[in-house]
Amino acid sequence: VMSFSIAIDGPAGAGKSTVARCAAQKLGFVYVDTGAMYRTIALYMLEHKVDVENQNALEKALSQIEIGVRYQDGMQQMLLNGVDVSGRIRTQEVSDQASVTAAKPAVREKLLNLQRELARHENVIMDGRDIGTRILPDAPLKIFLTASSRERARRRYAELQQKGEVCSLEEIQREIEERDDRDSHRAEAPLRQADDAILLDTSDLSVEEAVDRIVNLAETAM
Ligand code: C5P
Repeated sequence: VMSFSIAIDGPAGAGKSTVARCAAQKLGFVYVDTGAMYRTIALYMLEHKVDVENQNALEKALSQIEIGVRYQDGMQQMLLNGVDVSGRIRTQEVSDQASVTAAKPAVREKLLNLQRELARHENVIMDGRDIGTRILPDAPLKIFLTASSRERARRRYAELQQKGEVCSLEEIQREIEERDDRDSHRAEAPLRQADDAILLDTSDLSVEEAVDRIVNLAETAM
């Protein structure tokens, strides 16, 4: 049986994970969050105080990391050497470290096969930065999901406000633009739209509208 893959790439805060998770649920696909894998490696580097700029230290650490992925009720859980770290990878510190470690070729190499294996046996919606360009170049449906940095900052701002955190919209927008810049200009697997990807700008779309768009595209392509 051939599996069907949907690649979703785009910048931070475009709503990829929410939209991809809902679309996967509607289509009966497995949602694979690759950012969580980079976050898991980043967590290890932080907790073990690994200097990731030191190639030997980085490779030694990578050889000691076993990444596990588990699905429970459609939720992806991350295991780091057998321990569930799904909650601990969602901090700002880990976000920042993840975009630094993800730029290292040895790190990307380690996750390449794991990501391809997951897509080989099941129908997946996989979200990340280089899924359409590198991990699944033959995916029959590729989406580049984006939104203006202003709109992404507004969404993040609303999230933080709801948690009762004090923050400035301008500062959030600046951080988002910095992370975009890092992800798009790195030498190794930079974020870019694949030539055959469909651009979906969610600046003026609700989550439901974006999900419907993707479900329709998938049903047409299958
Ligand atoms: O998507 P998320 O924000 O969880 O990803 C965290 C970081 O991991 C991103 O900022 C990016 O630098 C990196 N990443 C990547 N390639 C992917 C997924 C994430 O480089 N496929």
